[in-house]
Amino acid sequence: MHTGEFLSQFIMEEQRRFKDASGDFSGLLNDICTACKVISNGVNKGALIGVLGSAETENVQGETQKKLDILSNEVFLQCNEWTGHLGAMASEEMDDIYPIPDQYPRGKYLLVFDPLDGSSNIDVNISVGTIFSILRCPDHIKEPTAKDFLLPGTKQVCGGYALYGPSTMLVLTTGNGVNGFTLDQNIGEFVLTHANMMIPEDTQEFAINASNMRFWEAPVNRYIDECLAGTTGVRDKNFNMRWVASMVAEVHRILVRGGIFMYPKDNKDPTKAGKLRLLYEANPMSFIVEQAGGISSTGRERIMDIVPDGLHQRVPVILGSKNEVDRVVSYHDDVKG
Ligand code: AHG
Ligand code: MN
Ligand code: MN
Repeated sequence: MHTGEFLSQFIMEEQRRFKDASGDFSGLLNDICTACKVISNGVNKGALIGVLGSAETENVQGETQKKLDILSNEVFLQCNEWTGHLGAMASEEMDDIYPIPDQYPRGKYLLVFDPLDGSSNIDVNISVGTIFSILRCPDHIKEPTAKDFLLPGTKQVCGGYALYGPSTMLVLTTGNGVNGFTLDQNIGEFVLTHANMMIPEDTQEFAINASNMRFWEAPVNRYIDECLAGTTGVRDKNFNMRWVASMVAEVHRILVRGGIFMYPKDNKDPTKAGKLRLLYEANPMSFIVEQAGGISSTGRERIMDIVPDGLHQRVPVILGSKNEVDRVVSYHDDVKG
């Protein structure tokens, strides 16, 4: 592995580490990478090709969909349905799973994705992304159902995201560290630019939507109050704050320079355990964060240990630099019992 190599070479070299590998997984990663390039192109052209704005439809979560939410979802389906690597797909934007159509061969993997993350940022030209997770279909299952997707994050074979920012990047882990690739638009290839990404253990930067403050639980209030007190409080250091409202952008920042990101449990809507979705957002990001030396927790448990009870399950998310996340978890421990 060396800086400057193409993602396709990286994928092939990873495959060669497993002597029995069939090439299915490598093929799947290449198809995902193609889908992300197509989405990147659409996001980049924006108003020029009329893709901004609302589609005026609602997804299963009751959120109004943007045109690009729907288009990106279709791109993922089209790039991945015919290849023979997948048994089925599931997405934040679809009520039910998408079985591979009968005219195509079925494969052993399941693909789960948030086709466009941070979509409130599309119309204002701020970074958005795509998040994906690859699971293995349980053995002998020819026609996967929704329950075959309900695996804890520890079972992921791959977690990754594409960030459509000033540069388009693809960051992924297969359980062997985290690597980041930058799209060279002129040659159409992702190039390894960020090898072996590691999250610094300490940070002085937090990310949380503070407009929800009055709904937070006591441990989160305590943590944020202490950050805000800076050198005048128990932390005895000043903190900086960021909130992009694109989880992909926040996680990427944390991978590059450290930080803590929180979308914690709150009592804004008692029917929802959190805002972010376990399968499409929390699990793949947790896999990446842990592989980069960080921690990802709900405050009460490791996110990747949760056995999902539904495709669209939501969870509280607290992730990033180890020592800060440990601190927030310890504040939750303090109020237990
Ligand atoms: P999506 O656009 O896929 O629905 O996800 C948006 C998510 C996440 O990316 C971001 O961190 C969070 O929602 C922002 O929520 P607020 O608008 O409540 O800040
Ligand atoms: Mn999202
Ligand atoms: Mn989304």
